[in-house]
Amino acid sequence: NDALMEDIVGLCKRRGFIFASSEIYGGYNGFYDYGPLGVELRNNIKQAWWRDMVQRRDDIEGLDSTIIMHPDIWKASGHIDSFSDPLVDCKESKRRYRADQLFFAPVILDGENVGYVAFVEGTDSASIIKRAKKLRDNLDKKQSKLDEAALSSDHTEFTEATDAQRELTLAPDANKVGTLTAPRAFKLMFETKVGPLADDSAVAYLRPETAQGIFANYKNIVDTGRVKIPFGIAQIGKAFRNEITPRNFIFRSREFEQMEIEYFIAPDADWKALHREWIDTCTDWLVSIGLSREGITEDIHPTEKLAFYSQATTDLMYQFPHGEQELWGIACRSDYDLQQHQKHSGKSMEIFDETSKTKYVPHVIEPSLGVDRTLLAVLTAAYTEDEVPNDKGKVEKRTVMKFSPKIAPVKAAVFPLLKNKPELVEVAQKLYKKLQRRWNVFYDASGAIGRRYRRQDEIGTPFGITIDFDTIEKDGTVTLRDRDTCEQRRVTEAELFEFLEEQIDG
Ligand code: GAP
Repeated sequence: NDALMEDIVGLCKRRGFIFASSEIYGGYNGFYDYGPLGVELRNNIKQAWWRDMVQRRDDIEGLDSTIIMHPDIWKASGHIDSFSDPLVDCKESKRRYRADQLFFAPVILDGENVGYVAFVEGTDSASIIKRAKKLRDNLDKKQSKLDEAALSSDHTEFTEATDAQRELTLAPDANKVGTLTAPRAFKLMFETKVGPLADDSAVAYLRPETAQGIFANYKNIVDTGRVKIPFGIAQIGKAFRNEITPRNFIFRSREFEQMEIEYFIAPDADWKALHREWIDTCTDWLVSIGLSREGITEDIHPTEKLAFYSQATTDLMYQFPHGEQELWGIACRSDYDLQQHQKHSGKSMEIFDETSKTKYVPHVIEPSLGVDRTLLAVLTAAYTEDEVPNDKGKVEKRTVMKFSPKIAPVKAAVFPLLKNKPELVEVAQKLYKKLQRRWNVFYDASGAIGRRYRRQDEIGTPFGITIDFDTIEKDGTVTLRDRDTCEQRRVTEAELFEFLEEQIDG
């Protein structure tokens, strides 16, 4: 649904959620900046995750390790040798593509297969057909009709494509018939140099995942004596990957953030049951921040596609505007990583299990979630266009972001009914200042009250609080408006604080 993605991107720019990085220089592909509302939303997502996964659990400890670490860590983890994507180049246009994201549609002319259109996963069929027509024109064939049905249904994965198919291909975004090179491994880790010596010994990497910082600190945390099996270590932080085709807004970028847990368990533990438990915990958490349960599905990786050390991986998939895609990977990684670090560092990774009185290198379950991808899922779930009655009782279209109060960037907006009545403004300002001590709230006195509501609806502020003449002349109650239902009720200040606390912090 390209239109939905466009609407979301447009709203994010207009209202200050997300900007293209380096925009005044034309942008920088694969990098995004978070504006005033985006940074609030992003922080709230991270805080909710930290609170639920670390602070409110007794079995998980937090960590914040560095982005640049000893390069041997990436040797031990296998990233230096094998963290790459298959890349193909279009020989004519010189454009580059990730081979595993390319698909082929055959172009049929008079029942004869004359070539293939290569396209990237998620491309809509209209543009595939357009490209196929281009291929036909370029081939200067007889004036035959394209078999459009065959075109949109029969896709073959590139990796299985034959050389002959590659020879006669119209690559994505290229306007002429092209030939693609055979796939080759493209390294995804960003390199840098550390220290004054600019030789090869100075090469270091920006971490492509936060997980290895956890494994590298596992021994330190065990030695603090704070943990006993089973336990987890959690970390939130930036990760960097030189993605060949960053796309779909913040879904796949080159600089992003992860929220990862390594959950250490006994080698003889019922890992299948614990894996299931984590899948459920993660699903429930996504629902708690506003994603619909129906929108989340489980993709169980088939055994033959698992890395050799992995016992099982289930991805939680979400219905993004560009299709159903991976949001949260939950992997059972056995004792592979710790064994690797034990071997490469020469330090023992064994733990003494008080219950079984045995020593072993624990196994691990790894729930790994992207902050930016979660934010895109949240934006997708929240984006709503509906119709509500305006001030004059007329039905009016509105765009409303239905964020959960837990993560909404602005929790409530305070409005004096009229800005030129000092009595109203004074009471409104006082309440605003009081609310501001606890939450991120907004004060708005300008314009008709209906317009003020609309502005808050569009940024997803769940509650509107209006101070009117009843507040100052009668009982001190204020009007509390619900963003989604637009219903209003009068509450006392004590009721207001109790309600907000339950909705926001509960
Ligand atoms: N430690 C395991 C690991 O990093 P992964 O599947 O490569 O596994 C985990 O990444 C999660 O990180 C993904 O499910 C996704 O949410 C997020 N992620 C990965 N690459 C990303 C990218 N280029 N842009 C945004 N998020 C990304």
